[in-house]
Amino acid sequence: MPAIELHNLKKSFGPINAVDGLDLVVEEGVCLGLLGPNGAGKSTTMKMLTGQAIPDAGEIRVLGYKLPREAKQARAEMGVVPQLDNLDIDVTVEENLAVFARLYRVDDVPAAVERALEIARLTDRRKEAVDRLSGGMRRRLLLARGLVHEPRLLLLDEPTVGLDPQIRTELWTLIDGLRSRGTTILMSTHYIEEAERLADEVAVVADGRVIARATPKELIAEHAGEKTAEVYGPPDRLHEVRSAAEDAGLRVRSAGPAIAIVGAEMAGPGLVPHDAIHRAGSLEDVFVMLTGEEAE
Ligand SMILES: Nc1ncnc2c1ncn2[C@@H]1O[C@H](COP(=O)(O)OP(=O)(O)OP(=O)(O)O)[C@@H](O)[C@H]1O
Ligand SMILES: [Mg+2]
Repeated sequence: MPAIELHNLKKSFGPINAVDGLDLVVEEGVCLGLLGPNGAGKSTTMKMLTGQAIPDAGEIRVLGYKLPREAKQARAEMGVVPQLDNLDIDVTVEENLAVFARLYRVDDVPAAVERALEIARLTDRRKEAVDRLSGGMRRRLLLARGLVHEPRLLLLDEPTVGLDPQIRTELWTLIDGLRSRGTTILMSTHYIEEAERLADEVAVVADGRVIARATPKELIAEHAGEKTAEVYGPPDRLHEVRSAAEDAGLRVRSAGPAIAIVGAEMAGPGLVPHDAIHRAGSLEDVFVMLTGEEAE
């Protein structure tokens, strides 16, 4: 039985079709990254999975429960880590965990708290008030709180958005640890690198739909290519190189100040300038080719 099954899911807000016929199956034990630009419908999808939003149409099954009817049962077996920090800053680290453990009716609350403290590597800070933790520690605590009842499924909505690179790396290590222990994870992100590093499979979401779904490697092979050639230079020159490449049937995208010729291994002689920088095709190439958005 898959952990998550979404079929033809739809949700509109007035004239906006936030989720517009989304299909997604996530098998147990998989870490799936929902990768999509701002407004693609990722958070709305997540909210329908937790019962916080009711779909207009479509079917949702989470851990075998049919939503929204059985949202309560499903919620009891899943961990949800919100994008925004909503920790209780008036109580200690361990009390934050204990409150959730009791809420989820965990049998052995002290043991659950102990385990969560270890996951978050906060055992030595357990008596600390939350507002005295560093940003990275708070994030680890937020994640550990979502794990206090040992959920089979974890929903992470933009787990590292707005964090500095060091804290982001710290969280990646933590999430990767959960993944290798077999927890099923659905993680939304618009950071390419996050999806590339953590996700076994990536579903690219645009305009409320899944437009591609595979492992990062397969997506790159199918939608980018072996090699990408980046060309820097004054706009006139880039324009010339681009036109020539496109006339020859190559795909070209903007890449900040440069242009990138995607699938450059197919280029005929003279189409890729000698000073171009060659690199392997990437998930970023896939994302930009499929969604037309610049990557973050
Ligand atoms: N409660 C709401 N009321 C009205 N419109 C909404 C509501 N929630 C979401 N939307 C709209 O639905 C669309 C999808 O939003 P959603 O938050 O699901 O996108 P997202 O993929 O999570 O984007 P981001 O990467 O910016 O978090 C957007 O156009 C958004 O403005
Ligand atoms: Mg969102």
